[in-house]
Amino acid sequence: MRHFLWLVDFNKEEIKEIIDLAITIKKETKAEIFKPYLKHNQLAMIFEKSSTRTRVSFEAGINQLGGNGLFLSSRDIQLGRGEPLKDTARVISRMVDLVMIRTFGHDRIEEFAKYSKVPVINGLTDLCHPVQLLADLLTMIEFKKFDFENPSNTTAAYVGDGNNMTHSWMILAAKLGFNLKIATPKGYEVDEKIKEIALNEAKKSGAKIEIFNEPKIAVKDVDVVVTDTWVSMGQEQQKEKRIKDFAGYEINEELMNLAKKDAVFMHCLPAYRGYEVSENIFEKFADVIFEEAENRLHAQKGLMVWLKQQKN
Ligand code: CP
Ligand code: NVA
Repeated sequence: MRHFLWLVDFNKEEIKEIIDLAITIKKETKAEIFKPYLKHNQLAMIFEKSSTRTRVSFEAGINQLGGNGLFLSSRDIQLGRGEPLKDTARVISRMVDLVMIRTFGHDRIEEFAKYSKVPVINGLTDLCHPVQLLADLLTMIEFKKFDFENPSNTTAAYVGDGNNMTHSWMILAAKLGFNLKIATPKGYEVDEKIKEIALNEAKKSGAKIEIFNEPKIAVKDVDVVVTDTWVSMGQEQQKEKRIKDFAGYEINEELMNLAKKDAVFMHCLPAYRGYEVSENIFEKFADVIFEEAENRLHAQKGLMVWLKQQKN
């Protein structure tokens, strides 16, 4: 049995298998062919934080695969009233076939997985957001910005907060062998442990991962530019300070003009125009961004089917 807690546990071949399944199932879905890959499977979806995309894509996805999704807000289940996480894991995993959790500390998802009898999927923690990166990878492939055969042809830039999204991009680049240039303001750098893991993995794959403070250096001649909110869930109290500290990190025309002529801009959403991205850059790349959002559905269907194949 495999869990999907972070991309560190997956190699390039496994990531490709998941993406290949996603591509097949996306094609079938577009042709309105809904094969019951996960007939009668129950997916418990535990949310300790808000969500639009993760909730809708997992729930629609499991239903389209012939299963059923159970939306469990921590406000409504006993977990929110203090029932231990390990007991919640032992109970829920006896009743369902897959569990997805969105929570705060990454240690919470690790603890849940330790006690779970079924595969656990990370739907975002403070440390990383790996399902988003499956969708981002699928989007890069579709927009011809990534090819498994020639990963080093791709260079992406991540500008903004050194957060769960940055960490996930670092691990993906390191595993697949594409190049990544990161620019974060001083004081908002990436997690040291993730950096060490990613740089170690990069040595094996040949990925070049560079970290700067200057956005103009990071975006120079890249194929893909990515950012994320400056104020992640749980950081609402720091909003004012963060907005000041991130001045100059907005992805706008001036920055995008430094990337390759045919570069694309991607955003995991929700996006805050006038902060991490300008209105006109967001709208210019709306086709890419909303395909990326839709790809959450397809990528996660591939993932759920793949996880169940490992078990059987
Ligand atoms: N990108 C993403 O995970 O969106 P939600 O927070 O809406 O799920
Ligand atoms: N970094 C953001 C991602 C939202 C999908 C957050 O954690 O809130």
